[in-house]
Amino acid sequence: KRPAGAPDKALAHKVTKVGVVGAGLMASQLALLFARRLEVPVVLTDLDQERLDKGVGYVHAEIGKLQAKGRISSDRANRLKALVTGSLTKDAFADADFVIEAVFEDLKVKQQVFAEVEAVVSETCVLATNTSSLSITEMAAGLRHPERVVGFHFFNPVAVLPLLEIVRGAATDDATLATAFAVAKSLKKSSVLVKDAPAFVVNRLLTRFMGEVIAAVDEGTPVETADHALDGLGLPMTPFALLQLVGPAVALHVAETMHAAFPDRYGVSENLAKLVAAGKPGLYGADFQIDPQARALFEGG
Ligand code: 3HC
Repeated sequence: KRPAGAPDKALAHKVTKVGVVGAGLMASQLALLFARRLEVPVVLTDLDQERLDKGVGYVHAEIGKLQAKGRISSDRANRLKALVTGSLTKDAFADADFVIEAVFEDLKVKQQVFAEVEAVVSETCVLATNTSSLSITEMAAGLRHPERVVGFHFFNPVAVLPLLEIVRGAATDDATLATAFAVAKSLKKSSVLVKDAPAFVVNRLLTRFMGEVIAAVDEGTPVETADHALDGLGLPMTPFALLQLVGPAVALHVAETMHAAFPDRYGVSENLAKLVAAGKPGLYGADFQIDPQARALFEGG
């Protein structure tokens, strides 16, 4: 059955090579997923060799884990590893049909990335963005072919969660959207078409939920109480574990975007901002005990 809002699949372009801009945690998870599900070459790019090596290293290590678990044969593991490569220049995207960016959440940076990619790819190559909250329409503005830009928003952990938000910008055409839906199907994701609105749909809801949990701590509720109050509802993880998984910097960025768009409905927690400013990756330490320094920042007021 065709997902709601998906154009005729006959309009979709075939995807035989994928480019991923960025080699951070999200980008590397995407590279792994595309290689595994589409079985096509996937090239990662980043600004320096160290980050690139880390990204490709992550993908190869995850493929190794799949093999060790008996999910894939050693032949397939070797084939998949060979499909994923890194390049410091975007020229490696010249023959790609689908490029997805997962770089820093900054509109100007993403516009610049797309302009650079557009300079090397074919006219029909789809430019997808994994942005969690920025406008697809604004990201496409200024490109020669804004009709090829589409939002393709994944959720952490990418390998596990089936959800994918597909976002149509003002200029996105049917062929681009059809390609996005066809790719999503090959990736075995459950895609939903959402409007190009701040933080789309899922993060609007999550930001409100997380914002209220954090506000409870801001207002004096101990972290453990706020974090475990909903345990009996059977959520897959506690709110602060989710904050750790998403990353406080990303969560703060989404909250700021929502606050700018709807100041009366979304706040920005000072404590969350303090945690990010201190460079803390979350409230928990590696052993999943609350980190005393992070707690002092968060609860200290
Ligand atoms: N990367 C890859 N795989 C992972 C993973 C990760 N970070 N974390 C867990 N997994 C895999 C495990 O390897 C395991 O796979 P297996 O069954 O093949 O062995 C499977 O997931 C289940 O893991 P566990 O048994 O260790 O743990 P749980 O059953 O507790 O599941 C969870 C872990 C899937 C993370 C679950 O707690 C969950 O779904 N949490 C909610 C996550 C969520 O809401 N994410 C959305 C965040 S919002 C977002 O990303 C948007 C952004 O824009 C902000």
